Amino acid sequence: MRPWPRSLMARAGLVLLIGLAVVQGGGLYLHMIDRGDLVRLGQAREVAARVMAVYRAVVVNTPESGRAALLRAIALPPGTQATLLEAPPAEMLPAPLTLVRLIQADLTLSPVPYHLRPHDVVVLGSLYDRLVEVGLALPDHGWLAVTVRVPAPEFWHSSLDLSLFLGLTALVAALFLVVARRLIAPIITLTHAAEALGRDVDAPPLPEAGPRETAAAAAAFNRMAGRIRRFVQDRTFLLTAIGHDLRTPITRLKLRAEFLEDEEMRRKILADLDEMEAMLSATLTFGRDAAASEQAATLDLVALIRTVLDEAADAAPDIAERLTYAGPERLLLAARPLALKRALGNLIANAVKYGDGAAVRLRPPEGGIAAGGMAAGGMAVIEIEDRGPGVADTDIERIFQPFQRLEASRNRETGGSGLGLPIARNILRAHGGDVTLANRPTGGLRATVSLPV
Ligand SMILES: Nc1ncnc2c1ncn2[C@@H]1O[C@H](COP(=O)(O)OP(=O)(O)OP(=O)(O)O)[C@@H](O)[C@H]1O
Ligand SMILES: [Mg+2]
Repeated sequence: MRPWPRSLMARAGLVLLIGLAVVQGGGLYLHMIDRGDLVRLGQAREVAARVMAVYRAVVVNTPESGRAALLRAIALPPGTQATLLEAPPAEMLPAPLTLVRLIQADLTLSPVPYHLRPHDVVVLGSLYDRLVEVGLALPDHGWLAVTVRVPAPEFWHSSLDLSLFLGLTALVAALFLVVARRLIAPIITLTHAAEALGRDVDAPPLPEAGPRETAAAAAAFNRMAGRIRRFVQDRTFLLTAIGHDLRTPITRLKLRAEFLEDEEMRRKILADLDEMEAMLSATLTFGRDAAASEQAATLDLVALIRTVLDEAADAAPDIAERLTYAGPERLLLAARPLALKRALGNLIANAVKYGDGAAVRLRPPEGGIAAGGMAAGGMAVIEIEDRGPGVADTDIERIFQPFQRLEASRNRETGGSGLGLPIARNILRAHGGDVTLANRPTGGLRATVSLPV
């Protein structure tokens, strides 16, 4: 159990509701005390009036012998009982002094001739017990005991009052929740916008509307996004410009190298220059990818994977039977087709190059796939497994950086430029997905691609 909710909305709502409860509870308490006092005063008066009415009937104009018969004959109001006693009543505890005083004062005010007044009064019970018994010493001899049942105090004039109170409280509580929600909404918008910007620097700007603070935050965010965009563009531009401009001197160097006398030296220099050229062209591709303006389209991921596998099989017919696919027959999603193909192609090419084959498995998103290949949403997961040597755990993140190649693979045959993984990750992240690598317990490497559907 967590005592303090994690969401800001829940916290703000909770604090406001607790505040409301305290204020309303305090008000209600004061009201109850006030009204309770008033109600009890009225109840004490009522008791005194009833008791005195019975006393008058019993004492005034009734001979002592007729009192019992009269008590039986008169109709007492409901909740009232009266009996004649020899001694003062004593079954209940004495009443609180305030009640005794109230009742005594009211009794003396009642219109009974002076010589017929009770010369002693005993009050038992209490209003809180909702039962009060008043014993009155009769003028001649004996006691009259009158028991009055007191109704529970009514704290509200009517049930309408109570419903009004509860209704207003609920209304204010609802208002608080709405306000809390509205206050937090911009944070959520900002979160989504930051998320979108992380995937795509060209994400549309935030609307700069609403209250002053919200609009200012949106404007600041948009300015930041603009600066990031310019920064990325400048970097990419620089990269491609350098890549482009270095080509000419390399070509020149190649021509000049041809004039070298030393056969061995010439071969080495030309090989180095070839490698530099390959790196440059990879760099240019990388730059083009970053600036990619390819339109997203709905495509069948399964068909795309199959195409990549087929092309890999064409390039390496001897391992064709180790290029396999397992998974659903059709899964539609929106993506940039060429970019996504390059990303998956790079991963599969690595599996082929370093792992001698690729077993591709597609796990559909949690929501499942409807007929026709449409999915309700969620993440599709593609696993690309090989049976190669894998990668040391310490190198796994490193090889996602541009131009990072492992020593073992630094030979001419498998010679790549070390841009395959960074490009793949770049593209997948731009789609809102990602790729991670892990060594399989049974040997070989597994690339796990996630892609939102
Ligand atoms: N499936 C794999 N098994 C073992 N090592 C791998 C695997 N995939 C990648 N690597 C290692 O990670 C390094 C970086 O891979 P990356 O795809 O980025 O570059 P590359 O394959 O060397 O060149 P490029 O893909 O640009 O032609 C590789 O040189 C290789 O050492
Ligand atoms: Mg590669």
